[in-house]
Amino acid sequence: MKIAILGVGTVGSGVLEVLEQNASIIAARAGESITPVAALVRDKSKAKENVKHLKVYDDFDELIENDEIDVFVELIGGVDLPYKMIKKLLSKGKAVVTANKALLAYHRSELESLAGEIPFGFEASVAGGIPIIKALREGLAANHINSITGILNGTCNYILTNMMNKGLAFDEVLKTAQELGYAEADPTFDVGGFDAAHKLLILASIAYKLDAKPDDILIEGISDISAEDIYFASEFGYTIKLLAVAKRNENNLELRVHPALLSKDKMIAKVDGVMNAISVVGDQVGESLYYGAGAGSRATASAVISDLIDIARKIKTPMLGYKDKGLDSGLKLLKSDEISSKFYLRLKVRDELGVIAKITNIMSANGVSIDSFLQKPNSNGGDATIYFTTHTCKSAQMKALIDAIRILDFVVGEPFVIRIEK
Ligand code: NAP
Ligand code: HSE
Repeated sequence: MKIAILGVGTVGSGVLEVLEQNASIIAARAGESITPVAALVRDKSKAKENVKHLKVYDDFDELIENDEIDVFVELIGGVDLPYKMIKKLLSKGKAVVTANKALLAYHRSELESLAGEIPFGFEASVAGGIPIIKALREGLAANHINSITGILNGTCNYILTNMMNKGLAFDEVLKTAQELGYAEADPTFDVGGFDAAHKLLILASIAYKLDAKPDDILIEGISDISAEDIYFASEFGYTIKLLAVAKRNENNLELRVHPALLSKDKMIAKVDGVMNAISVVGDQVGESLYYGAGAGSRATASAVISDLIDIARKIKTPMLGYKDKGLDSGLKLLKSDEISSKFYLRLKVRDELGVIAKITNIMSANGVSIDSFLQKPNSNGGDATIYFTTHTCKSAQMKALIDAIRILDFVVGEPFVIRIEK
C-alpha cells in the first residue's frame, strides 16, 4: 500500500520513522508493506532531509493527481485547509487518515457522509497513542455509555503535573511542552481547553451519536491556575487536572471541559506528565480505564499507522460507530449554565472587619452553600486570600455569585473558581 504524508512535522516525521523501523511487523500485520512514496510540504525548496527519498510536492492539486497513492495521511493541522483538502480527496474516492481533532470537532458528520464506504481513519485524533476510538466504537459497542471522564490533553497534564510536583511556573513548563512537540501550533488550543473539547466531541459522537460543536459545550482552560490554587489543592488532598467529561443522566447529557480538583486517591488523579487516561463506564461492562501517551511523535504515529493497517486489511468499521443512521438517542445536551458541581472559590480581599460575613451572606442569597472555608493571612498585613469549597450548585448560580462578589469594594482582583469532581 502506498501512502502520501501531508505535513511532515512532529507526527508526520514520527510516521515515517515508525514505518521504517517497524516495517516487517507492520507488513506482517497489514498483509502487505506500507510504503511512503510522497510528501506534501509547504515549500519544496526547504524540504527536510527526512523526505528527500520521497516524491516531494508543495502543490496539493498536483499531489492528488498522483494515482500511485492509495492513502493520504493529513498531518498539517488547522481546520480550513485540511477540510478543503480532505473534501477534495473524498470526492475523488481517495482513502484518508488524519490525526486532526480540530477538523473533526467541526466537520466530522459531513465528512462521514462524504466518506461513505471510503476508508477514513482518525484514531490518532484522540489521546495520541491510546486506541480509545477503537475501544469505544468496537470493543464497547454493546453498551450504553453512562460516562466518559478523560485527561485528554497531554500539554495541560504536563504543565499541571510540573506546577504541582515541582513548583515550576506555568510559562516555563509550557515552553518545555512546546519543545517536546506536545503542544498544538497555537498552544492556546491546549491551555484554553479547546483541544480537549475537540477530542471530547469526537468521543461523544461515537458514544451518543451527538453532533454538537465546540460552541455548544462548556470549555474552561488552565491559564488562570495560580500557585495559590496549587497550595490549596496540595494542602487539602487534591490534585488539579484538566478533565473532559461526558455524563449521561437519564435523557440529559452534559459535555464539559474544565480544570477540576480531584481527590488524590482517585486513579485518574495519579495520571501525570504527558500521559492521558480515559475512564469509560458502560451500562453492561462497568468501568474500564485506558492509559497511555497522549501526545508526542512516536505515540501518535503508532495510532496513525494502526489506521493504515486497518485500511490495508480492508476492515470497514463505520466511521463514527453507527451503521444505522436512523438511531435517535433522545439525549438533550445540557446548557453550560445548567451543569451542576461542587466548586472551589478563591478570593483576594482587603483584611477588614466584616468581610467574611458580607461574602457568606451573598453566597447564601445566591443559594450557594459553603462546604469548607480557609483564610490564609498575609504576613505583611496586606490582602488576605480566602478559599471556599461549596456544596453542589448550578454553574448559573456560581456565575451570579461571582458577578455579585467581584464588584465589592474590598475584593482585590478577579475571584477564581475551579470545579470539584466527585
Ligand atoms: P507540526 O509539528 O506543526 O507539523 C505540521 C506540519 O505541516 C509542519 O511540517 C508544517 O510545515 C506542515 N504544513 C503546514 N502548512 C502546510 C501546507 N499548507 N502544506 C504542507 N505542509 C504544511 O504539527 P504536529 O504536532 O505534527 O500535528 C499535526 C496534526 O496532528 C495536528 O492536527 C495535531 O493536532 C495532530 N496531533 C498532534 C499530536 C502531537 O503530539 N503533536 C498528537 C495527536 C494529534 P512548517 O513546519 O513549514 O510549518
Ligand atoms: N496538543 C495535544 C496534546 C496533542 O497536548 O494533547 C495530542 O493531541
